[in-house]
Amino acid sequence: MSQHTNDQGGQSQYSLFSTGPTAEERRRVQWLTAELERHNYLYHTLDKPEISDDQFDALFHELQALEDRWPELRSPHSPTLRVGGKLIDGLAKKAHSRQMYGLDNVFSLEQWQDFAERMRRAWDADSNGPLPESFWCDPKLDGLALEIIYVDGIMQEALTRGDGEIGEVVTEAVRTIRTVPLRLAGPGPFPSRLEVRGEVVMYKKDFAALNEKQEALGLKTFANPRNAAAGTLRQLDISITASRPLRFLAYSLGEAQWQPAPACTLHSEAMARLREYGFLTPPDGKLCESVQAVEDYAQWVREHRPQFRMEIDGAVAKLDNLEAQQALGFTARAPRFAVAFKFPAEQAQTLLKDIEIQVGRTGVLTPVAVLEPIAVGGVMVSRATLHNEDEIRSRDVRVGDTVMVRRAGDVIPEVVGPVLDKRPQDAKEYVFPHSCPACGQPAYREEGEAAWRCENMACPAIRLRAISHFVSKAGLDISGVGQKWIEQLVNSGRVESPADLFTLTVEELLGFERMGEVLAQKFVGALDEAKHTATLPRLISALGIRHVGEQTARTLAAHFRSLDELEKADAETLQGLPDVGPEVASSIRNFFDSSANKEQLARFKALGMWPQSARSGTNNGHEAEGGAGEGGASASGPLAGKTILFTGSLSMPRGQAEKLAEAAGATPLGGVSKKLNYLVAGEKAGSKLEKAQTLGVTVLDETEFMGMLREAGVVFE
Ligand code: IVH
Repeated sequence: MSQHTNDQGGQSQYSLFSTGPTAEERRRVQWLTAELERHNYLYHTLDKPEISDDQFDALFHELQALEDRWPELRSPHSPTLRVGGKLIDGLAKKAHSRQMYGLDNVFSLEQWQDFAERMRRAWDADSNGPLPESFWCDPKLDGLALEIIYVDGIMQEALTRGDGEIGEVVTEAVRTIRTVPLRLAGPGPFPSRLEVRGEVVMYKKDFAALNEKQEALGLKTFANPRNAAAGTLRQLDISITASRPLRFLAYSLGEAQWQPAPACTLHSEAMARLREYGFLTPPDGKLCESVQAVEDYAQWVREHRPQFRMEIDGAVAKLDNLEAQQALGFTARAPRFAVAFKFPAEQAQTLLKDIEIQVGRTGVLTPVAVLEPIAVGGVMVSRATLHNEDEIRSRDVRVGDTVMVRRAGDVIPEVVGPVLDKRPQDAKEYVFPHSCPACGQPAYREEGEAAWRCENMACPAIRLRAISHFVSKAGLDISGVGQKWIEQLVNSGRVESPADLFTLTVEELLGFERMGEVLAQKFVGALDEAKHTATLPRLISALGIRHVGEQTARTLAAHFRSLDELEKADAETLQGLPDVGPEVASSIRNFFDSSANKEQLARFKALGMWPQSARSGTNNGHEAEGGAGEGGASASGPLAGKTILFTGSLSMPRGQAEKLAEAAGATPLGGVSKKLNYLVAGEKAGSKLEKAQTLGVTVLDETEFMGMLREAGVVFE
């Protein structure tokens, strides 16, 4: 990075007596902006990165620091706008300058031939000559339609399709999508106005990973990639949008004022131009020169459907000639020049025999349809998700109904709805249970949430997962207590809760198949050690309280001396802590209010596993083990329990500095506020530094920060 570093120290002949940026700083910001966008494109759109993530981060943080210092240098297409961080009040609505139409569907060769025939009839051959029957074809992406408006090559606004006439303004969210150029690529000149239309999608693999992550964090999962994409785009917290892997693929244009750029006259030409401008376009797009070639293409896409990285639900054929498109125009709801070949829906009818409630790891109660087995899209389906209480109600699904079951691509089967004329007279509306079917304890459904949950830590269905979590790395990290053994112990009924683990003896364990003396000793030894060395943050994290991961556990441990104190804290006190919002606070309260959980905690206390926070200097009478990485949760030293923020350019990527701070027991925050204990200011720190000084926050330089890390035993000389 040294060769790029601005070595003028922020002061040059131009700025000696002024407070503005130097000419060098201006050039540097321009260069960084263009360079970062180039790498963004190489990485996200072309899948061909040229630099490492760390190198990218270093450039990114340099630009961020310059922009923090000189906000006037931040261009409207700055890559730093992609990280989100904003909270939006709501989504404004705005009219599209040209309506975003839907597409008519065809399901067979005959229907396609009829459509082509209608096209010919609508075409005024007498004055125009024969219709140029050449079609641009691409897969029909199953996502969310979006329009992005570029003025003089700069992204200005983004609107969802809405009802086709009026869409929602989602500009900030769309800026975070890495495959959306913030400025059109290439040397220009660029169209004075270009409305690029396309689909926002989530790739299948990204969708699966997102759901896994949501599940692990106890957050809501999504039914399919389209819902995930739609939910993400309409998020009001833009940093959540930024953290999710959306992609935009451009497939057509709205209004295009090409001047001063050369105009396109063919759709295929426009697609090539969009690619030059840096857009991703649907994969395997192709020019088909006859009605039959279009049919062959649609058939090919259908056969290759599982191989596409995103969900697709058909193929689209568009007349290639843009003038001919315009001449044909639109019916009330769809263009006359384009059509969708929809794949026959992979759905089938079958009997809904029962609705069962499945209890997930975090206690979410998911209704599952028990079906008369049926083949859907070549796969036998006997169970399908009904998502949640509201979905059952809005689809009016009843036990005894014949229901429509659908498989969308690779995604789990779902019940679409009942076939009403087959409904038996005695089919009763389903009443969602308000208690957990596995343990009988009351279930809760929080305001604004779709899911009912069982909060009882001793619930048998959650037990296994809860105990696994308790001993896992995210919990007490007890090595020697393997998942397989946990399963055996839970299934045998011997272990019903985490506290039971600590009552196991070597003799007892030897009674289990394939358990030998050495292993049994190790098992009991590991638990005994954990009992004495458990730190407060680890124990809080191990409890598996919803929304309380390792980081929040650290924050809590820094503010409460023990679980006794935490248990007494009211929601208001909890919300006063960094990074604890109303949702987290109420989840903590629910946890401690459960009688079953109270009993668990009393047993931990009786066992002597009742750590005090590192702050108070005692930890079951043992010193907290400081150290790098994982062990940092129990760190002592000047950073333990403190909040911290980094600004300006540091000698290491900001992410790395944050990790080190966390290892020393600190909690990184997102902005300057009264809750901030330390601001570490690198070179060219800007507005954050000023704000911190106004609020009286302690400001450290990097050397002082490193000193504190050494004191905490996180880094060594
Ligand atoms: S072209 C004038 N191409 O399908 C033609 N649309 O059911 C405009 N869609 O709202 C659309 N993939 O959101 C086109 N490759 C593709 C598409 C596509 C998905 C969506 C689009 C439209 C919907 C119509």
